[in-house]
Amino acid sequence: MNASPRAIPGPLDVGRLRQDFPILDQQVNGAPLAYLDNAASTQRPLAVLDAMDHYYRHDHANVHRGVHTLSHRATDRYEHARELVRGFLNAASIREVIFTRGTTEAINLVAYTLGQRLKAGDEIVVSELEHHSNIVPWQMLCERTGAVLRVGPITDRGEIDVEAMLALITPATRLVGVAHVSNALGTVNPVAEIIAAARRHGALTLVDGAQAAAHVPVDVRALGCDFYALSGHKLHGPTGIGVLYGRESVLETLPPFQGGGDMIATVSFRGTTYNELPYRFEAGTPAIAEAIGLGAAIEYLGRVGLPAIAAHEEALVDHALARLRDLPGIRFLGNPRQRVGLVSFNIDGIHPHDVGTVLDQRGVAVRAGHHCAMPVMERFGVPGSVRASFALYNTRDEVDRLVEALQLAVRMFAP
Ligand SMILES: Cc1ncc(COP(=O)(O)O)c(C=O)c1O
Repeated sequence: MNASPRAIPGPLDVGRLRQDFPILDQQVNGAPLAYLDNAASTQRPLAVLDAMDHYYRHDHANVHRGVHTLSHRATDRYEHARELVRGFLNAASIREVIFTRGTTEAINLVAYTLGQRLKAGDEIVVSELEHHSNIVPWQMLCERTGAVLRVGPITDRGEIDVEAMLALITPATRLVGVAHVSNALGTVNPVAEIIAAARRHGALTLVDGAQAAAHVPVDVRALGCDFYALSGHKLHGPTGIGVLYGRESVLETLPPFQGGGDMIATVSFRGTTYNELPYRFEAGTPAIAEAIGLGAAIEYLGRVGLPAIAAHEEALVDHALARLRDLPGIRFLGNPRQRVGLVSFNIDGIHPHDVGTVLDQRGVAVRAGHHCAMPVMERFGVPGSVRASFALYNTRDEVDRLVEALQLAVRMFAP
C-alpha cells in the first residue's frame, strides 16, 4: 500500500478510530488512559485481535507440512500475510520477505550470516543515533571477525551529519546500517542518500525501519536498500513477529541462519540441502497467528491511510512542541527538521523516571529512560529522557493532559 506522497490526506476521524482499540478505553490510576508510549509498542485494533482469534478458533495447524485441510488453510493464511508484507514494502517478490521475531532478530540474522564472509580490516558503518539492536549485533560481528565498526556522528539538532557519515564509507565498507527513523529523537534520516553512497562503494545497506513503518510509506525498491527490518508490534500488529526484507540476489549468497525443520530441501547424514527463499531463513514452526495478525495490521493501516496518519501525528507533534516550549526548565533532545511521531525532552532538576511516575499517576503513559539508545543519551550528556510518542488514535486533548501533568511535576519537584 505505497500511497503516493502527493495524495492529500483527509483528517482522521480519531473518535471513531479509537473504538477500534478497546484497550484505550480504561482508567489508569483514576484517570482516563492517555497512551503516549507508541514508539515502544503500539496498541492493536480489533481487526488484528479478530484475525488471530479466528485463526486459532478455526484454522490452526502447522504450516507447509500437512496434507490435511487445516494445514492448507493455515499455510494459505500465513503466506497471504507474506504477500501483504511484500505489497506494504513494495518488495519485488515474496522470496524477499522473511518472517522473524522482530527487528532485533532481523538485524541479527544479517549480522550472523554476513559474518561468515567478513575478515579483519573490513568495515561496518552505522550512525550515532541507532537503537542498540542496530549497534550490538555489529559489535559482536566485529569481535568475531576483526572487522571494524565506524560511527557516523550526529549534530546538536539530532540529525545525522551526512557529510561526516559519507566520508566514513570507503571501499573497505562491507555494510552500512542506518535507522529510517530514530526512536530516541524522531529524526527521519536521509536513508536514500546514504544508501546511494554505500552502493557506489559496493557496500551492502540495511535500514532499521522499526520506527518508520507505522508512520511513513516504505518502498524498498525506491530506497534501493539490500535489507529492511521492522517489528509487527510497532505498527499495530502482534509482538513476536517482524520482517526482514532482503534483496533476492543478496539473500541467495547468504548461508542459512538457523538449522532445523522447514529450512531444508533434503536431509541425510551424508549431507543436507537447503530450501528455497525465503524458507531457507525460517527454521522451525513460525509464529503463524502473529504473521496473520501482522497482515491484518497492514490491511488496517492501508484502510486508514498512512498519509492521513502521518499528517495527524505531525499536527500532534507540532501542538506538543508549541505547548511544551512554555514549560519551565524544559530541554528538548535535538530539534530535527524532519521528524515523525515523538518528542523527547528533560526537565531541569527532575529525573526522567520521576517525571514518568508523576505522569503515570495522571493516567499518562510515556517512556522514561535511555530508550535503548545509550549513545544518543551520551551525545546529549543526559542519562535518559522523557519520550512522548504518538499514534493514529492520540488526540490533542491527550497532549494537553501530558502538559498539565508535566506542570504538576514541575510544581512538585521545584526546589
Ligand atoms: C529504531 C529501533 N530499532 C530496533 C528496535 C528493536 O525492535 P524489537 O525490540 O521489536 O526487535 C526498536 C525498538 O524500540 C527501535 O525503536
